[in-house]
Amino acid sequence: MRVAVIGAGVIGLSSAQCIINYTRPIATPLTTVVVYADTFTPDTTSDGAAGFWQPYVVDQGKPEEVKWNKETFDYLLSYLHSPDASEMGLFLQSGYNLFKEPVPDPSWKDIVLGFRHLTAKELKLFPGFSYGWFNTSLMLEGKSYLPWLMAKLKEQGVQFVKKKITSFQELAPAFDVIVNCTGIRAQELQPDPELKPGRGQILKVHAPWMKHFILSHDIKAEIYSTPYILPGSKLVTMGGIFQLGNWNEENNPEDHKKVWEGGCKLVPSLKNARIVEDWTGLRPVRSRVRLERQTFNSGPKKFEVIHNYGHGGYGLTIHWGCAMEVSNILNKIQQETKPSWKMPSRL
Ligand code: FAD
Ligand code: BEZ
Repeated sequence: MRVAVIGAGVIGLSSAQCIINYTRPIATPLTTVVVYADTFTPDTTSDGAAGFWQPYVVDQGKPEEVKWNKETFDYLLSYLHSPDASEMGLFLQSGYNLFKEPVPDPSWKDIVLGFRHLTAKELKLFPGFSYGWFNTSLMLEGKSYLPWLMAKLKEQGVQFVKKKITSFQELAPAFDVIVNCTGIRAQELQPDPELKPGRGQILKVHAPWMKHFILSHDIKAEIYSTPYILPGSKLVTMGGIFQLGNWNEENNPEDHKKVWEGGCKLVPSLKNARIVEDWTGLRPVRSRVRLERQTFNSGPKKFEVIHNYGHGGYGLTIHWGCAMEVSNILNKIQQETKPSWKMPSRL
C-alpha cells in the first residue's frame, strides 16, 4: 500500500503518524508514506495558532466531532507528564470563559479537567460579564508540536517532498491512496463551496505575569470577534478576530487596534505588555470536518482519496481523533483491495 499525504500542517502530519502506527500491522513491509506540501513548519497555519485545546469559535456539539475532540484531549493528556511533553509544546492551562448571559454547558465539559461555573467573586474580576466557566485544559503549541511530529515521522521512514500538488491525478500513478490534508486550500484540488476562510489576526505579546486563559464571548454578536488572551510557553496570544469569507492574509492595522484595545479592556495590566509580533491566518471553516473517502479513476487505475480538512478554529483540538479515523478508513480500504506490491515510481 503506497500512501501520499498532501499537507504538512497538524492534520497532515498526525494523519501520517496514525497511518504509520495503526495500519502497518496488516500492511506489507512495503507500505510507503510520503508527505507532500509546499509549506512546512514554521510557516503553516498550524504553526501560527495559539494551540489551545477548546472547540472554537462556537461549540457545535456534533457527536462525531465531540468524540474526536475527546480522543485528542485524552491522547494528549497521556503524554502530559512524559519526557516528550516539553518538546511537543504540551502543558496544562487553566482559565476562564466569560459570557454576558447564561448559556448551556459546552459539549466538552466532561472532557476537560475540573469544569465548573464561575462564582460571583470571580465574575467581579471581569466587569461586563455576568456568567462563565472555569476549567483546566491543554496547550499544544504548533511551533513545537509540528517539528516533534516531523522528527518522529522521519525516524519511521516517512519521506517529505516540498512540492505544490495541482491535482490528485498527478499522484495517482505512484500511490494507491491519497490523504487530502490541505486545510483552507482544499478547493485548489476539488471544488467545495462549503469551505470558507475564517480570517484571524492575533498579537503575540511579552506579558509573563499572565498565567490563565481568558476567552470572552458575545453570542448575540453578528460578527463573532470577541477578545481572548491565551498565555503560551514564551509569549501571550491576544486575539479574537473571526472574519468569515475574508481571504486577506495581510495584517490589518484596524484589526491590530481592535485586538490590542479589546485585550487591554479585558485585562488592563496588558497595557504594560510589549507587542512582539502580529500574525494573520485563515481558519479552514466548514459546517463539519470533511473526513470521508472518495474513489477516483485515472485511466484504467482506481485510487482512493481520504479527505481530512475543514477543521476551522479547532484543528489542534481535534487532530488526533481525525487522524485515527483516517487510519480506520485506510484499514478498510486495505481489507477491500488486494495489495499491488510495487515500489513507488519517482515523481
Ligand atoms: P494547515 O496548517 O494550513 O496546513 C495545510 C498544509 O497543506 C500546508 O502544509 C500546505 O502547504 C499544504 N497544502 C495545501 N494545499 C497544497 C497543495 N495544493 N500542494 C501542496 N501542499 C498543499 N486551533 C486550535 O485547536 N487551537 C487554537 O488555539 C487555534 N488558534 C488559532 C488562531 C488563529 C488566528 C487561527 C487562524 C487558527 C487557529 N486555530 C486553532 C485553528 C488551526 O490553526 C487550524 O484548524 C489548523 O491549523 C488546520 O490545520 P491543517 O493541517 O488542516 O492546515
Ligand atoms: C482561534 O481560532 O482563534 C482559537 C481557537 C481555539 C481557542 C481559542 C482561539
